Amino acid sequence: MSRKLYTVGPVNVPEDVLKAMDRPMITHRSKEYRELHRSIEEKLHKAIGTDDDIFMVAGSATILLEGAARNGIRKRSLGLSGGSFGDRLVQVAQLNGRQVEVLRKPMGQGFSPADLEGRVMGDIDAVHWVCNESSSGVLLDSAALAEEVRSQNPDAIVMVDAVTSMFAVDHRMKDLQADSVVFGSQKDLALPPGIAFAVVSKEMMKRSEKMENKGFYTDFVRLKEKNDEDYALTTPPVSLMFGLDYQLDKMLREGMSARYRRHEEMADAIRKWAEERMEGIFPERGYESKTIGVVRRGGLDFDRFHSILKSKGMEISNGYGDAKKTTFRIGTMGDLGLKDVKQLMDSMDEALEEMKQ
Ligand SMILES: Cc1ncc(COP(=O)(O)O)c(C=O)c1O
Repeated sequence: MSRKLYTVGPVNVPEDVLKAMDRPMITHRSKEYRELHRSIEEKLHKAIGTDDDIFMVAGSATILLEGAARNGIRKRSLGLSGGSFGDRLVQVAQLNGRQVEVLRKPMGQGFSPADLEGRVMGDIDAVHWVCNESSSGVLLDSAALAEEVRSQNPDAIVMVDAVTSMFAVDHRMKDLQADSVVFGSQKDLALPPGIAFAVVSKEMMKRSEKMENKGFYTDFVRLKEKNDEDYALTTPPVSLMFGLDYQLDKMLREGMSARYRRHEEMADAIRKWAEERMEGIFPERGYESKTIGVVRRGGLDFDRFHSILKSKGMEISNGYGDAKKTTFRIGTMGDLGLKDVKQLMDSMDEALEEMKQ
């Protein structure tokens, strides 16, 4: 039985998007592919609001998070972490032989520029964080953090994981000026998993040119050479790209401001529901995610609650990492709207009633 997904990703892929992918295959060194690639690039630049290069590869987002570490960190980075995906970035850098100084906060707390004071000194040559930490539902003001990094060390590379915030939240790209911003297809783009993206600055490219051991797949210089010709370095996920081209048209028709507002409205509704029915939302005030409502579940029997919801055709996500047993998560990414969220909240209310019986 198919279920409507209010998950943290993969998320619901609408019928029209699935249909847009149902097209005969084209080869990736053809004129048709080149036109598709160029069309997607143009639309991505518009939707994101950047002139920087945007790379697309077959894979999940982590492949380009790894790419950013291999091309961007010379020796030592500062990694901000308040949850599982911040830790993942640290691990990715360490497994690639980099030293990482970790600035850690308890899950649920956000980072402000003041937390970075005096931390981007000495031999720190890159700083990385997760814009929207999917385990805790904490959303950071990445532009403000990046400004603080640059004020301390203009040469430090800024690397942002925007996997669960890109297209849902205004990253103020012109202020952010990050050196890499990475995301994947299975989150707010509402496509199946399989495309990883990186927005990459000129500074990152300069650094990449001098870096060794970047591998083949994750070498930004090789990726750029092909991308400049509107080709992919290795075989691209062509069917997904048909869907992506279609989704970007829809997104630009909706307009980015309207899209950000829609996500804000859904997040507000979930937050209100969590305050009225549960023990509220997990992240500290002022840092609440616009795409993932991490709900403090108190004594709720989540497995029973979730199986009732599933029987009604809806799926949400369990808690994650250290908050696995104390929270559950509601994803409102992609094409969902307030009507869908109301439908979910009605079903969650019914499930709570049924559990009293
Ligand atoms: C914030 C964040 N970063 C990174 C990842 C890893 O992405 P992927 O599984 O696409 O590699 C996820 C996955 O959920 C995520 O939520």
